[in-house]
Amino acid sequence: MPSRRALLAQAAGLAGFALTPGSWTSAVAATRMVDSPFGLGVASGEPSPDGMVLWTRLASRPREPLGGMPPAPVAVRWEIAADPQMKRTVARGRQLAVAEAGHSVHVEVSGLRPGREYWYRFMAGGHASPIGRTRTTPAAGSAADQLKLAFASCQKYSAGYYSAHAALAADAPDLVLFLGDYIYEEAHTGKGVRAHPAAEPVDLAGYRERYAWYKADTDLQAAHAAAPWMVTWDDHEVANDYGDDQDRTNPTPADFLKRRAAAYQAFYENMPLRRTQRPVGPDMLLYRSRAWGDLARIQMLDTRQYRNHRTCEAASDGKRIPMDCPERSDPARSLLGQDQERWLQAEFRSSRARWNLLGQQYLMEQLMTRLGMVGNDGWDGYAASRRRVLEGWRDAKVSNPVVLGGDIHCFFAGELALTPDGPPVASEFVGGSISSLGAEASDIRLLMMANRRLTYGEGETRGYGRVELTPKTCTVTFRGVENALVAKSPVRDLAKFVVEDGVAGAKRV
Ligand SMILES: [Fe+2]
Repeated sequence: MPSRRALLAQAAGLAGFALTPGSWTSAVAATRMVDSPFGLGVASGEPSPDGMVLWTRLASRPREPLGGMPPAPVAVRWEIAADPQMKRTVARGRQLAVAEAGHSVHVEVSGLRPGREYWYRFMAGGHASPIGRTRTTPAAGSAADQLKLAFASCQKYSAGYYSAHAALAADAPDLVLFLGDYIYEEAHTGKGVRAHPAAEPVDLAGYRERYAWYKADTDLQAAHAAAPWMVTWDDHEVANDYGDDQDRTNPTPADFLKRRAAAYQAFYENMPLRRTQRPVGPDMLLYRSRAWGDLARIQMLDTRQYRNHRTCEAASDGKRIPMDCPERSDPARSLLGQDQERWLQAEFRSSRARWNLLGQQYLMEQLMTRLGMVGNDGWDGYAASRRRVLEGWRDAKVSNPVVLGGDIHCFFAGELALTPDGPPVASEFVGGSISSLGAEASDIRLLMMANRRLTYGEGETRGYGRVELTPKTCTVTFRGVENALVAKSPVRDLAKFVVEDGVAGAKRV
């Protein structure tokens, strides 16, 4: 028999928690807290023409168990306004933050006007949160003449400071795409510039603690408060190099799926996601698309949950496999799984947008070493899956496909084609890493020589990417941190590219 509290938690998670007067007064609504419970900041995400998700997770002392919060439900009020001073409130409400959901709050606001900026905040325990800025997308199909977005990935806490996030926040983009490796699950080895808890998380308490440690960073909080985000994950939100029900350390699929369920639950609790994305056991629906009027459609992929297991392991040197291993091109194998591939092809056929952005985890172009080896953890290990995506763009005559990626801790710009000498089908940009260490210049030079579709590569600088769309051009700027090993380091433009409407490829300007 589930406890009353468990039922409350379930209701809170599933239905946004419809409060009854009784449940409200029994919560610790009136309790004044000594410390502000907003130690993890605020966020918004998943914008639509009439609303978005507002998020916070209460923690008065983020590094303590339960974030220093009481085990009883805590009443939280929220409000959203048309001005940054919060004078013209357009909606408000209240929710309970319960320990069973990690004291997270997900509010789905609707009924707002399309294509507008809004500001929001939460109140609890006699404290007000910082004010976040968010926005709605333009009305469906309407003429939109501009979208400025940032894309970022890979923020290993111990590897560096988040100056890139401070710069991203200062850009005040319309939207942020986070493309994976939001946390790293690894144990702390004592190396790096800052410490987090030593033990590798394997259960919900462990993952919650890891998120709390990361989210207490004020630069990361500033980036969340600056714009709505759309997030997807890579491997380190769960375990290194995992795929489907398998990783490199857990002995059985059943053990691993238990761990995956805990990691997915913690991911949901810590991200501004909609209720439809809430995990059910070890499953969580994360792939989806959003439109920005008629200007852009953005598809966000999940390349971890549904993939076939890695292949050609016997011929692997530990990291890479030979190009000529036949299984990697087996059409029966998929990086996305059949359902997601079918969904993506339907997206291609239905999109009328001028720019079609694909948010995913990797460099999608083949990345071969001079010895003829490729990775088996990304698209290169699932070459038929990649081919089907490229053919889908071509066959559906998708307008201006642009791939945005992360994972490899390097900046790359280039193009994708179906044959070695064929015309480019899509443009591609990988936006470096916020803090995770990348590759040395000499290694990048060798990769560029072996992979002619790449026009730019840089692995020694941390940072993020900025995309500015108009009906005529897609301008991508790589932004680099001077030194991510020190806090508050300056950020400058590294390189700039333009994709013109109708012309695939990354032209440096
Ligand atoms: Fe990473």
